[in-house]
Amino acid sequence: MRPIHFAFAAAMALASGQAAAQAYDPVARGGELYRSACASCHGVDGKGGGPVARYLETKPSDLTTMTRRNNGTFPFYRAFQVIDGREEVAQHGPRDMLIWGNMLRFEAGDQYGSLMRETYVRGRIYELVSYLDSIQQR
Ligand code: HEC
Repeated sequence: MRPIHFAFAAAMALASGQAAAQAYDPVARGGELYRSACASCHGVDGKGGGPVARYLETKPSDLTTMTRRNNGTFPFYRAFQVIDGREEVAQHGPRDMLIWGNMLRFEAGDQYGSLMRETYVRGRIYELVSYLDSIQQR
């Protein structure tokens, strides 16, 4: 387990009230969230052909070629920022994709204090990014 995995594992276990000993699989958790929140536009296979895609002005990106389009390195930080959207949209203006940082914050609800809520949001985005990293065409 990479140190960053461990840090998020501990935070997510805390946030969800699970025993920290339970195996934490960010890719699997991210995949689940991907299929419910992202596949409608980006497609189950991540290639951008989801059922909602044709109603959008901007075609959803092919998420399986992010590494290839970034000279062979998965653009972890940029993916994180684009999905979160809070800073990204403030800097680059509105877009077709939702601001998932706000959606996830809403999903976290009132059960946590502000810091834990933010930890939850970042943990969930981290899981999505881990999943995207796992579906890259090498
Ligand atoms: C309503 C349709 C829609 C949904 C749902 C959606 N996206 Fe997107 N996404 C887009 C569009 C359209 C783009 C193209 C760029 C833009 O709009 O700025 C995009 C771009 C991206 C990019 C940038 C890719 C690149 O190569 O630069 C990432 C990463 C991404 N989406 C991830 C996600 C994730 C993860 C989810 C689920 C939490 C998601 N998207 C849900 C429409 C959507």
